Amino acid sequence: AIERTLSIIKPDAVAKNVIGQIYSRFENAGLKIVAAKMLHLSKEKAGGFYAEHKERPFFADLVGFMTSGPVVVQVLEGENAVALNRELMGATNPKEADAGTIRADFAESIDANAVHGSDSTTSAAREVAYFFAEDEICPR
Ligand code: CMP
Repeated sequence: AIERTLSIIKPDAVAKNVIGQIYSRFENAGLKIVAAKMLHLSKEKAGGFYAEHKERPFFADLVGFMTSGPVVVQVLEGENAVALNRELMGATNPKEADAGTIRADFAESIDANAVHGSDSTTSAAREVAYFFAEDEICPR
């Protein structure tokens, strides 16, 4: 089915100047960028996004990292977009990510892991709505 998924290029990848290289991975895999914006997240915005991790020991570091510099947030659309984007990203820990994935090629650590992608269509619906109004999404 055609799905939408929420993708974030994290501060480490923006600082490395690889936004375009990551966009090319999405496009070459057949995903369409149907919404996009650059943002410097506040602690409130980042903490709300990761609310499901609030009790985890890494929550404070995660929010600190995600607010350390600008991010680029986009909605990807295409066949099987949620799982396809997760394949392109590779494992959460870049040390475990398959060769040729975004995290294997651009990420340094489990916190500075270059990208976020929704883990299910249910999360995707919540995460897309967290960052984009309906009129900011341009299906094509
Ligand atoms: P992301 O897919 O953005 O979702 C939550 C983030 O928490 C994850 O990527 C990692 O960058 C970060 N994180 C840090 N430590 C852990 C951990 N032990 N398990 C899972 N995620 C972690």
